[in-house]
Amino acid sequence: MASTPVFCVLRAILTVIPVLAGFIVLFLMYYKSFPSPKCHPPPAHSDRLTKQANSHSTSAVTKQSNSPAATQQTDKPIMLLWFWPENKRFDFKDCKKLFNIDSCHLTDDRSLYSRAQGVLIFHRAILDDLSNLPTSPRPRFQRWIWFNVDSQSNTRRIQGIQGLFNLTLSYRRDADIHVRWQLTVKKNTDGDFVLPKKERLLCWIVDDSDLHTESGESYSYYRELAKHIHIDVFNSSSAGLLRGENYFLTISSCKFYLSFESSIDRDYITETFSGPLAAGTVPIVLGPPRRNYEDFAPGTSFLHVNDFANARTLAEFLLRLDKDNEAFMRYFNWHRFYTARRHLTGENHEFAHAICQACDHVGVTKEYRVMPDLYKWFFL
Ligand SMILES: *[C@@H]1O[C@H](CO)[C@@H](O)[C@H](O)[C@H]1NC(C)=O
Repeated sequence: MASTPVFCVLRAILTVIPVLAGFIVLFLMYYKSFPSPKCHPPPAHSDRLTKQANSHSTSAVTKQSNSPAATQQTDKPIMLLWFWPENKRFDFKDCKKLFNIDSCHLTDDRSLYSRAQGVLIFHRAILDDLSNLPTSPRPRFQRWIWFNVDSQSNTRRIQGIQGLFNLTLSYRRDADIHVRWQLTVKKNTDGDFVLPKKERLLCWIVDDSDLHTESGESYSYYRELAKHIHIDVFNSSSAGLLRGENYFLTISSCKFYLSFESSIDRDYITETFSGPLAAGTVPIVLGPPRRNYEDFAPGTSFLHVNDFANARTLAEFLLRLDKDNEAFMRYFNWHRFYTARRHLTGENHEFAHAICQACDHVGVTKEYRVMPDLYKWFFL
């Protein structure tokens, strides 16, 4: 029970030494931290220096951690194309080549999902049960883009997607990304317009099996018009004939072209209108009202079926213009100020312009819109 004196002394020493050591350490710490401005003024930009050092180290880490992707990876935001529309695939490099758009890293590689700033989702490809939409959680910075180039009447109401999107891509002028082949203002007004050689008065490219059976405004108007004037009809389903260069060659050989839209909806003014403008042919439009067309092109560049009391008076007007070259040429005056660009007619490029425009948007702006109900906006 009683400890020996030697043991007691040892125990005392062992207790005192750590306590003493503690005091010495505390004293040294206090002494060191005591501000001594005379000797060491703090660096003026210590804050900024730290931040720079941090950003260097993070970028170094990023480069190392995903070396296979790093070869093509840049600082550009990633835009993931979730579905290939109608499986029409093109080379993403064409955005740069054809439109000089290079502001995003465009990919269809779904493994990049968690890093993608934008995910472009083609409406028509979404299944009714939504089972083919991304299932992993959406990163906070990611924006989903609703990709729909169809008219209101041709858009399927898929239930459950109304609140999913942050941006819209559509032909509508009030979409975030407004896809259209627009006229561009000429920088200089020299370079005279040369009218392409004309061999026909009035043409239409259409699936001719529909011509005599289909109801619908454009077909009934055509049938009425054809009673008063000859119309050259080219069958749109004859393969290859109207693809690529042939499309513009055919249209430019006609003085007038029936730019009849398949459905009549606000802003739904498609290549069936911009194509003839670019080909040097006067479009005769059937679609939304004239003033809607004038949002996109000069009022003197086209004829609207509603400008005429009926198909017969339109036919008479065209036959008069056919004999009056000076009056006909007035429909091309706009070429002094604007250029119309030819759309891409290659089958696989059908959606390229829209996809590249989305890439451009994601690359140059961080803006997005709160879209609580997509359909309330689109079907308005
Ligand atoms: C995008 O929209 C979704 C659904 O409304 C929302 O949860 C998300 O925060 C939005 N993301 C951004 C980056 O705005």
